Amino acid sequence: MKTPKTIICCVVGTRPEAIKMAPVILELRRSSFLEPFVLATGQHTDMLRQALDFFGICADKDLAVMKENQSLDYITASVLEKVGQVLDDLKPFMVLVHGDTTTTMAASLAAFYRKIPLAHVEAGLRSGNINLPFPEELNRIVSDRVAGWWFPPTEGAKDNLLREGFDPSRIIVTGNTVIDALLWSANKVNEPASGALKIIPGTARVMLLTAHRRESWGEPLKGICRAVIRILEDFPDLWVIIPMHRNPQVRSILKSQLGDIKSVVLCDPLDYPDFVWSMKRSDLILTDSGGVQEETTVLGTPTLVMRDVTERPEAVKYGTSVLVGTNPERIHEMATKALKEPQAGAIESFKYRVSPFGAGNAAQIIIETIEDIFRKS
Ligand code: UD1
Ligand code: UDP
Repeated sequence: MKTPKTIICCVVGTRPEAIKMAPVILELRRSSFLEPFVLATGQHTDMLRQALDFFGICADKDLAVMKENQSLDYITASVLEKVGQVLDDLKPFMVLVHGDTTTTMAASLAAFYRKIPLAHVEAGLRSGNINLPFPEELNRIVSDRVAGWWFPPTEGAKDNLLREGFDPSRIIVTGNTVIDALLWSANKVNEPASGALKIIPGTARVMLLTAHRRESWGEPLKGICRAVIRILEDFPDLWVIIPMHRNPQVRSILKSQLGDIKSVVLCDPLDYPDFVWSMKRSDLILTDSGGVQEETTVLGTPTLVMRDVTERPEAVKYGTSVLVGTNPERIHEMATKALKEPQAGAIESFKYRVSPFGAGNAAQIIIETIEDIFRKS
């Protein structure tokens, strides 16, 4: 009889956790003595499934917590309680969480309350402002505080953890697993599958826009839309792709402000390969996403980050990102500069073309480390 493998519980709740944990889950499946139990909290529904599906991953259990316009209190309480119940039954050797969502934070607490070893993937990111991004900066601080193993993506993230006094022997710099996911998807990206993308003329210049952060809801998002309208007035050949987040707070503003413009493609969230195709096809990206800042360091597409601070300074220093905030004048000015002089080094930081987020072997480093921890336990 075969000896049963030891269970590592991998918790995912939202789209970016699914994309960034997928390489780790796939790598765990290859282990000869460990196996993943994929626990979806269902903080996201279709956006989570869409991402997992692409990687051929099906959750072993889905807690299906999502409600329309859910509050932070609700997500925190329901994830904490329901993940806790699963952990009581499952008794995994270790819990793995990723990043900085409320799923991440509440699942970390559930593991901590049971004294189950917790490892944090994408540990150590800090913006230095507890309110930006909100509530992600607090979430990642809580997860790091209760974790026993840390997998920061960069030396900078490791330095943040060392400054906060965590045990250096348990901090392993891995690179970011999103680079693994991006490279994994690279040979699966040819022509877009989405009908919405097929209508864009082959000769058109393209700008991709994503915005979903809580601090941008309301007036800042309306300002971003005004900036898009001004950019389109200045560049009539430009098409804008906006894969709208499923959040009604975001969709209603985008639809009401930009819904009538023919060259604005307002579409549903794109499958990962179509989104990667869009990032590559674009002359410019406007985003407030964390993951996109990392991905464009590999793809090289100029990226304006619509935030005041970033916990990913490497994307600005060595990548293709420039912080522009949400002021419409500033967005318009910087987008104009980037679109007018794409090759002229109009924006200083675009000159680098190396990814500071690793070589695409982060998942392998993480699983080899966990195997080692298990052997020594
Ligand atoms: C969440 C994370 C954020 C992460 C983002 C990635 C928190 C507090 N926020 O923000 O850190 O960057 O995911 O996208 O953890 N909805 C759907 N279907 C879906 C997903 C969302 O209908 O598949 C709608 C629901 O009405 C839901 C709302 O969007 O209530 C907001 O979802 P929520 O997870 O609370 O916040 P996000 O803005 O998605
Ligand atoms: N993404 C995607 N389809 C989309 C928009 C984004 O697959 O329509 C991917 C993107 O490539 C990145 C991740 O989703 O890997 C980012 O997710 P999001 O912006 O929701 O979250 P954040 O990174 O800001 O936490």
